[in-house]
Amino acid sequence: MTAAVDRANLPQHVGIIMDGNGRWAGQRGLPRNSGHEQGETALFDTVEGALEIGLRWLTVYAFSTENWKRPPSEVAFLMNFNRDLLLRRADELDERRVRVRFIGRRNRPVPRRLVKMIEDTERRTAHHRRMTLQIAFNYGGRSELVDAARRIAADAAAGDLRPDKVTAKSIQARLYEPEAPDVDLLIRTSGEQRLSNFLLWEAAYAELVFTDVLWPDFSRSDLFSGIGEFQQRSRRFGRV
Ligand code: IPE
Ligand code: IPE
Ligand code: MG
Repeated sequence: MTAAVDRANLPQHVGIIMDGNGRWAGQRGLPRNSGHEQGETALFDTVEGALEIGLRWLTVYAFSTENWKRPPSEVAFLMNFNRDLLLRRADELDERRVRVRFIGRRNRPVPRRLVKMIEDTERRTAHHRRMTLQIAFNYGGRSELVDAARRIAADAAAGDLRPDKVTAKSIQARLYEPEAPDVDLLIRTSGEQRLSNFLLWEAAYAELVFTDVLWPDFSRSDLFSGIGEFQQRSRRFGRV
């Protein structure tokens, strides 16, 4: 399955649904949260791999708007864990010249001290251009489109936008990160084959790659295999 990566034909933007942490832990008789902990190693090896080949945009799904439905103890763990992860890793990302961005809603119930850490990390790394790492946190594709629609409605009400002038560009301009190129490769781990509300607008024409590897076992070589598979696909965009 390992295909070589052609660096002249990289995807512009890779999205990853990091799934299977709970099952990884379950297979070892460990609590679900230790699967999340182990996922950190997978994420940072993937980031190193992305830098190694020169990928420019990587977006990872860390917490969905639906994940609030998990047991309160797991939700609380994930809030603390993500804040600690930023505390531990912000220096490393900064040194690697990675621009870190969070996409998703930042209001309640996201803890204020996590939001503060998110804002600090974004500010610290805002000038980097080597790669943008977007972390989708309290993110939902539908919420993102609802937020864009609210801004369009507000602009229309203020007289700044005529309803008959609303185009795909008007929506794109009001996404959480308007500058991000479309996702052209979307990878999901753990054998599940669904989008789970990830990047609905941005991944409209993405090539989908599903792997049975559970997220804590994922590493840069799996990223490279996914990109190798992407490079063998024939992308037609509606043409013949
Ligand atoms: C993905 O792993 C991490 C998050 C959704 C936060 P899961 O926690 O969904 O793991 P499984 O799917 O239960 O194995
Ligand atoms: C999607 O995984 C969200 C993240 C990876 C953060 P889930 O495990 O929450 O998705 P479902 O519930 O299986 O669709
Ligand atoms: Mg899951």
